[in-house]
Amino acid sequence: MELIRFKDHAQLSGYVAGEVVTALQKKPSLTICLASGHTPALACELLVEQLLQQQVNYSGLFLLGLDEWVGLGAETEGGCQHFFRKKLVEPLQLRETQYHFFNALNSSLEQECAGMDAVIAQRGPIDIMIVGIGMNGHIGFNEPGTPFTSLSHSIQLAEITKTIGKKYFTGNVPLEKGITIGLGHLMNSHTVYLMANGAQKAGVIQQAVTGPVSPSFPASIMQIHGNGFVLVDEEAGTLV
Ligand code: GLP
Repeated sequence: MELIRFKDHAQLSGYVAGEVVTALQKKPSLTICLASGHTPALACELLVEQLLQQQVNYSGLFLLGLDEWVGLGAETEGGCQHFFRKKLVEPLQLRETQYHFFNALNSSLEQECAGMDAVIAQRGPIDIMIVGIGMNGHIGFNEPGTPFTSLSHSIQLAEITKTIGKKYFTGNVPLEKGITIGLGHLMNSHTVYLMANGAQKAGVIQQAVTGPVSPSFPASIMQIHGNGFVLVDEEAGTLV
């Protein structure tokens, strides 16, 4: 694992966008798995900008949505799939064959998980994962206690996740369960970028980077990923 520091969120986001563009130029059939949330939003916008401005051929790009709030559909503003569609699918006009997201309205979440695992198995390990970090160290909805070998699964959300999750929504949306790509897929992926910005993330970054490697703090998995990068802005990096 390597820790890379940036001055601010804009520089951090530009770096991630540039890394994806470079990787795509080397491997046109690139598979990326992306988190939603406030942290990667700007990186998505800059990625779109760079791909279009540099006229990069992204017709082979394949996008996987990392997670979703169970019970929310694609049209719910603040939901993960809504984010993936607004930030990447629509501006890049990706074809339906170029992405796969959890349908968190499916009455069988097991089926959704099996479907996601099948897509990953068919395409081969994820090339690039771009993830954030929750205030309890979660990645996606891999909450504390999730085994490092886990594949796609649904989970009862931690109280802190439900409380903080309200920031994405204007109305009162019930947030009880999540569905997510698992940490086993993260371990198998070629490259992982964990992004964090802002002073509120300094403590969890410290624990992720210097604390014990344990499923009780999922982001500590970054320490044992051979090609994992923890990217922080000045504020998130004050304790490491
Ligand atoms: C949410 C999502 C994660 C995200 C994390 C941090 O719970 N499930 O995928 O990375 O919280 O979000 P943010 O970037 O808004 O701080």
